[in-house]
Amino acid sequence: MPVALITGASRGFGRATALALAEEGWSLVVDARTSYDLDLTTHQLRTAGATSVIAVAGDVADQAHRGRLADAVTSLGSLDVLINNASVLGPSPQPTLSAYPIPVLKEVYAVNTFAPLALTQALLPQLRASRGRVVNISSDAAVEAYEGWGGYGSSKAALEQWSRVLAAEEPDLRVYVFDPGDMRTRMHQAAFPGEDISDRPEPETVVPALQKLLASELPSGRYSSATLLAEVGTGAPA
Ligand SMILES: NC(=O)c1ccc[n+]([C@@H]2O[C@H](COP(=O)([O-])OP(=O)(O)OC[C@H]3O[C@@H](n4cnc5c(N)ncnc54)[C@H](OP(=O)(O)O)[C@@H]3O)[C@@H](O)[C@H]2O)c1
Repeated sequence: MPVALITGASRGFGRATALALAEEGWSLVVDARTSYDLDLTTHQLRTAGATSVIAVAGDVADQAHRGRLADAVTSLGSLDVLINNASVLGPSPQPTLSAYPIPVLKEVYAVNTFAPLALTQALLPQLRASRGRVVNISSDAAVEAYEGWGGYGSSKAALEQWSRVLAAEEPDLRVYVFDPGDMRTRMHQAAFPGEDISDRPEPETVVPALQKLLASELPSGRYSSATLLAEVGTGAPA
């Protein structure tokens, strides 16, 4: 069965994606910083049918942790898909750029922009060997100028640009940017503090779009859940 490494898999979209792949029998390497949450999810992944689950608690921005993730992949023998999903919003409420503390912005970039690249670098030998896929989870905030979204949004814009360049440099890989759209998660609630976000879709409803991308022969590029889900709904070819 195929092997995926999913960062930030203890809750939200990462967990929903991991559960869907577990149900298909994938072998999974997963992480998150909070061991308690990660342990709960790991149990659910095993119950759901994953062939193998290796959970490594830690911070993707930490080089030693990324080394442990790479070791876990090595122990499974191969890697088909790397999903760089772990991400932080930054302050809540989000400050305008005029007041954005640069040390905090550096922390946001460390997790959202540099860690996914460093993890991809560490796993390139395995990804090249499998002609595998890198999926970088982005946001419409990377391409739209929403007031207050300059920190998080620019970190995702940089993620998207290195994804495009990596795709050009590594033509045997598929490097996808995936925009999931709004989802009812802890991050989304932090982005809209005090607001009722119950009208936003659950992350589980977005996962079929990512599954479609993973099962497709679509070339490297940017894909949104809305577009992919519309095709799922109509049965139209990719
Ligand atoms: N929700 C939305 O509306 C929305 C919209 C557009 C894009 N996105 C993107 O979708 C992805 C998933 O977001 P979400 O809404 O599911 O977020 P979430 O509910 O906050 O979940 C984030 C996950 O990442 C983990 N994580 C956070 N920082 C980490 C770090 N430094 N190292 C390792 N794990 C870390 C969290 O666990 P710990 O806190 O325990 O580490 C958790 O498992 C993100 O890339 C986000 O930018 C979300």
